[in-house]
Amino acid sequence: MLSHTGMKPKLKVALVGAGGIARGQHLPGWNQIADAEVVAIVDINAEAARAAATEFCVPQVFTDYREMLKADVDIVDICTPNRLHTPVALAALKTGRHVLCEKPLAVTTAEVRQLGELADRKGLKLMSAQHMRYLPVSGDIRQWAATGALGEVYHARVRAMRRALLPISPGFIDSRLSGGGPCMDIGVHALDACLWMMDFPKPVRVTGTMKTNFAKGHVIPGKWGEWDRSLFDVEDFAAGFVHFENGATMTLEAAWLGHQEEDEDLSFQLFGKGAGVYWPSGRYASVVNGSFCQGTLSPAHAAASPHHQEIRAFFKSVADNEPSPVPWTETIRVIAILEAIATSSRSGREIEIAL
Ligand SMILES: NC(=O)c1ccc[n+]([C@@H]2O[C@H](COP(=O)([O-])OP(=O)(O)OC[C@H]3O[C@@H](n4cnc5c(N)ncnc54)[C@H](O)[C@@H]3O)[C@@H](O)[C@H]2O)c1
Repeated sequence: MLSHTGMKPKLKVALVGAGGIARGQHLPGWNQIADAEVVAIVDINAEAARAAATEFCVPQVFTDYREMLKADVDIVDICTPNRLHTPVALAALKTGRHVLCEKPLAVTTAEVRQLGELADRKGLKLMSAQHMRYLPVSGDIRQWAATGALGEVYHARVRAMRRALLPISPGFIDSRLSGGGPCMDIGVHALDACLWMMDFPKPVRVTGTMKTNFAKGHVIPGKWGEWDRSLFDVEDFAAGFVHFENGATMTLEAAWLGHQEEDEDLSFQLFGKGAGVYWPSGRYASVVNGSFCQGTLSPAHAAASPHHQEIRAFFKSVADNEPSPVPWTETIRVIAILEAIATSSRSGREIEIAL
């Protein structure tokens, strides 16, 4: 089928995993791109695949992604539980498909490297779906940081802390499917956005701790419902301290359950020698001519869903053969930090990162 430009055929997309994020964001996001069409949906749960296909008028339904890969498809968009990301992405890349994949791209640095090197060898696009980069305030802070306004950034404070928002499905709480708890699930969002603002300094040493403080008991009732406590084998709280090669440091905290006022605090703060800035509020603080000043960088703008922007950016990179908007060489630094927090927690030691 030809696109509205009459020049290029539409890019054909297959979506793997027809759960919450696929139906809530990815399928509507692809629907808004005139030069792409979702031609297949895959889910091991045939009913879920069929329901999504009906809702979004998708012609082909599969229960096995290997069968789907025999069809005429240019792009594979992966929305399965985390641990399935690597096998599906590997199979898609091996058969010449571009890959957009939900976060975390993979749960180990070895897997990220394997996927990234394969994509590079084959000249295919690979992108981790880090939609927080597409919030208007993220672009504004990054642009402002690029002017040098922050000066040397010497510390970052990153938080992904929830009061009682524990995702209840096995895909999140069973490590065989998720590869980790809140650190991998939501820490990855704020960490990626923060490192992006910092221009991705190289992490060199990490200490961390992971605990299961509440999830095995009933002290904090989950606002998203009950979960299977016998299946729960990931942390519900994690904290890490990171040293970067350029001398900067970072603290990172992530939790699904804990005693705090806010339902969710997904935020970071950058401390520079010229100014400090808060994300996502866009507030900043500095001193000008000896006087304290503060303000807000990013006046509220109405914008499309950041998920849809991320999908559009990926589509454009494929259609125009531009570099991936989220290069795997950045993603590997994010995953290295998350992986090292878990390793440090298990070993009780500081972990050196060699990338
Ligand atoms: N970016 C975000 O804001 C955001 C939000 C939620 C989830 N996510 C990510 O998206 C992914 C999916 O999360 P979700 O909330 O949609 O989970 P979900 O449990 O709602 O959906 C996952 C779907 O994948 C299917 N599935 C499992 N194994 C499969 C396989 N081998 N082949 C095909 N389908 C398979 C399941 O049957 C299910 O329908 C996770 O990686 C998660 O981290 C991202």
